[in-house]
Amino acid sequence: MTKKKVLVTGGAGFIGGNFVQYMVEKYPNYDIYNLDSLTYAGDLTKHRNIETIENYHFINADIANHDVIIPIFENYKFDYVIHFAAESHVDRSISDPGVFIHTNVLGTQVLLEASRQVGVTKFVHVSTDEVYGELDFDPTSYFTEDTPLQPNSPYSASKASSDLLVQAYHETYGLPINITRCSNNYGPYHFPEKLIPLTISRVLNNQNIPIYGDGKNVRDWLHVFDHCSAIDLVMHDGRNGEVYNIGGHNEKTNLEVVKTIVRSLGKSESLIEFVKDRLGHDKRYAIDPSKLAQLGWKPTYTFETGIAQTIQWYLDNKEWWEQIISGEYQSYFEKQYSI
Ligand code: NAD
Ligand code: TYD
Repeated sequence: MTKKKVLVTGGAGFIGGNFVQYMVEKYPNYDIYNLDSLTYAGDLTKHRNIETIENYHFINADIANHDVIIPIFENYKFDYVIHFAAESHVDRSISDPGVFIHTNVLGTQVLLEASRQVGVTKFVHVSTDEVYGELDFDPTSYFTEDTPLQPNSPYSASKASSDLLVQAYHETYGLPINITRCSNNYGPYHFPEKLIPLTISRVLNNQNIPIYGDGKNVRDWLHVFDHCSAIDLVMHDGRNGEVYNIGGHNEKTNLEVVKTIVRSLGKSESLIEFVKDRLGHDKRYAIDPSKLAQLGWKPTYTFETGIAQTIQWYLDNKEWWEQIISGEYQSYFEKQYSI
């Protein structure tokens, strides 16, 4: 029997990287191709443990480069495309939106075109709950798959644009697709520009933690391993053309998240520093995951077990994040924050 070929775009990043590890281990009978252009957010050291494993392959390419991507698809004839590659940080999209259009919009269209030309079995587009915009603080309101798209940041607008292109390729050309919209992830190999890894790394270095505005904005947190199992399920069992929201009902204010980390590491809350608010800062995200639950998915981590696992991972893997924060990241941080 020929092995199924699975293309994972953005597999050198945070979630794509965890998904590559998950797939290589779970499906030795699949060939897993990690395609990534290794931007500041991509790093291959996380795959040292699998780089000599027979069913893992790496391709260095920019998803927006049509002349490179089409021949790659013609050559490998992938069965599945699981599309993670993106510019993913809201703050960077506020200071430099252009690259978000290049990768998230144009890059997705190039992959859709290549997938249509070779006739893939399924294109899974990994999107975000941020395409729905923001909710108010009414704890009974949730994003469902029917919530209209109302993105607010250049990042979420670029992701919403890519979602619409995926739906257009399904309607126009009959490309088999699913779109997943997950809430905020956390876990191993999370780049330390995002709230949770930024807080852990700064607390461990006894540095102040910048909280935007009053810290009351709410995010719905999901451990990255649970996101991986959800995508695995959608890839194999998702109904063609459907959107699936992914979340585990773990809503926390930013201040609650930061205080939990500070307390767990035995440090003082005086490290918390309130700074200027993010422009257009979305108030609250919260996912109704019942459609995916009907497909048989259940998260395995609560926020409490997941954050404990994650903090321990950062304690055990200091060399990984120290190498990041000592590089180009330092000038990013100084430009972004005045603390
Ligand atoms: P990340 O920034 O950690 O990783 C992105 C990866 O894509 C990097 O390895 C980078 O090198 C690669 N990449 C960027 N531009 C590329 C290009 N033009 N060509 C090829 N590769 C390119 O992102 P992440 O947090 O792992 O997010 C992955 C996906 O999941 C994104 O599509 C994001 O929108 C979505 N998502 C993220 C979250 C979250 O909380 N992080 C939540 C829901 C959905
Ligand atoms: P982030 O991790 O950037 O994810 P997203 O913006 O995609 O939700 O931010 C999570 C929340 O934390 C968001 O409300 C912004 C806030 N935040 C801070 O208060 N301080 C920070 O330094 C960062 C990076 C985020």
